[in-house]
Amino acid sequence: MNQELISIHEVAKSVTEAMETRHSIREYETTPIPEEVLKRIFETSLRSPSWKNSQPWKVHIISGAKKEKLADSLTKAAMESSPAPETNWPESYPSDAKKRMFDLGMKIYGVAGIDRKDKEARDQFMLRNFSFFGAPTAVFITSKFDLNFFVGIDLGCFLQSVLLLAREEGLGTCPQAALGAFPQVVRNELNLPNDEKVIMGLSIGYPKPNSDLNRFHTPREESSDLLRFY
Ligand SMILES: Cc1cc2nc3c(=O)[nH]c(=O)nc-3n(C[C@H](O)[C@H](O)[C@H](O)COP(=O)(O)O)c2cc1C
Repeated sequence: MNQELISIHEVAKSVTEAMETRHSIREYETTPIPEEVLKRIFETSLRSPSWKNSQPWKVHIISGAKKEKLADSLTKAAMESSPAPETNWPESYPSDAKKRMFDLGMKIYGVAGIDRKDKEARDQFMLRNFSFFGAPTAVFITSKFDLNFFVGIDLGCFLQSVLLLAREEGLGTCPQAALGAFPQVVRNELNLPNDEKVIMGLSIGYPKPNSDLNRFHTPREESSDLLRFY
């Protein structure tokens, strides 16, 4: 492996370290990810558990010119049309979750230097989802399964595997529901059959150092409120 391509970011040496250091990365170096690194991550991620070993996922890993073209098409779609996801995006939340989501927005806009009242700036920031926040590789997770609750759990297990394995390679990631907002664009660009639904995607790459956005860590609720040991 070309050592010069390895980011200055620390590599997680245990699952615990990967869990503790992982957070969503929204600014990347353009440095390409060596093919063997991508292969290691995604081939290992296929060991994820699923309901009765049904393995509802297909995974599309896109780099180079094809990724650029996809970014252009998705950005254009986001500027010209409304999201049309093939999954049910949640519409309501308990009030404490609403507060966490509001706080997240405030904090991200804060570190990005965006005034929350500036809709134009917020829209521009949102658009960065579709150019994968500058990451060298984009990933789309698709499925031909009926999208029931347990398929969602299976795909979540798969997603977390990828996020943690990426940390072991010194890579950052951002899981993105936004990448499922324009499935027809993804379907056209990747030549997918109509019955293969585009669930979501993620950006993956070497985190940009000295980035305020990347330094930002979301808080978690107190474990005493969430865990009960008997
Ligand atoms: C299913 C899912 C969808 C997400 N969609 C987006 C997205 O579209 N855009 C984005 O910037 N972050 C997205 N995120 C990242 C979350 O905002 C992030 O995981 C959460 O705020 C916790 O922060 P952390 O990942 O930095 O620990 C998503 C995360 C998950 C698990």
